[in-house]
Amino acid sequence: MMTKFGSVFIQLASVDSTNNYAANLIQQGSCQDGSVIMADYQTMGRGQLGNSWQSVSAANLMFSIAFRPKYTLDEQIRLSWYSALIWQQCLLRFGLKAQIKWPNDIYLGKQKIGGILIEQQLKGAVLDWCILGCGINVNATPELAQATSIFQETGQKFKPLTVLTEYLDLLNGQQKLLYGDFLQLKGLYEEAMGFRNQLLQFEKKDGTSFSGTIVGVDPQGQLQLAVEGELQSFANQEIRFLLPLA
Ligand code: BTN
Repeated sequence: MMTKFGSVFIQLASVDSTNNYAANLIQQGSCQDGSVIMADYQTMGRGQLGNSWQSVSAANLMFSIAFRPKYTLDEQIRLSWYSALIWQQCLLRFGLKAQIKWPNDIYLGKQKIGGILIEQQLKGAVLDWCILGCGINVNATPELAQATSIFQETGQKFKPLTVLTEYLDLLNGQQKLLYGDFLQLKGLYEEAMGFRNQLLQFEKKDGTSFSGTIVGVDPQGQLQLAVEGELQSFANQEIRFLLPLA
């Protein structure tokens, strides 16, 4: 019933994207639940919303997990919440207090230390496979002011594999959360969300902006905001939020 995250471990020097590699394994019908694909380098790493994900070779952690969920499509958000929560716990093992920037970016203060890209495969109306792709800045000195790394924060270098080992350990150990009470998982995710209790600027797809306060998420994982005293929900593609400057 439970998944053994890391049951199969594939380490690659270079690949287009570990998410693609996992998708190919699944397509070939030769993929075991919990298989991990890690790469030192990606030539076509992908981020959320069609962005690219680039990283210096071997400096940072990049991997994907092929995961066969044992819950139904209406609860598909579970993995997004769980994987982000587990990153928060994992970074704590390195002395870092991370927060989740909705939907599943990992932040230290106002700087991004990692991101998650989940791709799903359905069989009819059944959730068949999820590919959990993670990119975490471990040893790089990011060029962007809005990014940071474990090295930048702690002054210590770690092997990316060391960080992955801790993450897998937590993923395996906390599965009660992944499969447990839905509202408990949602509540824990909401507690781990950053940038709450402050007025933030949001920008809609059409370019218009407004201010609101993060309240939490709805059961689909949409962001719930209080906008002028009214509760509103937004999907990931609908808005982006600009971090407070102060
Ligand atoms: C984001 O912040 O936009 C998500 C970034 C996800 C990057 C990881 S790196 C390993 C895996 N393979 C990819 O092509 N993307 C994910």
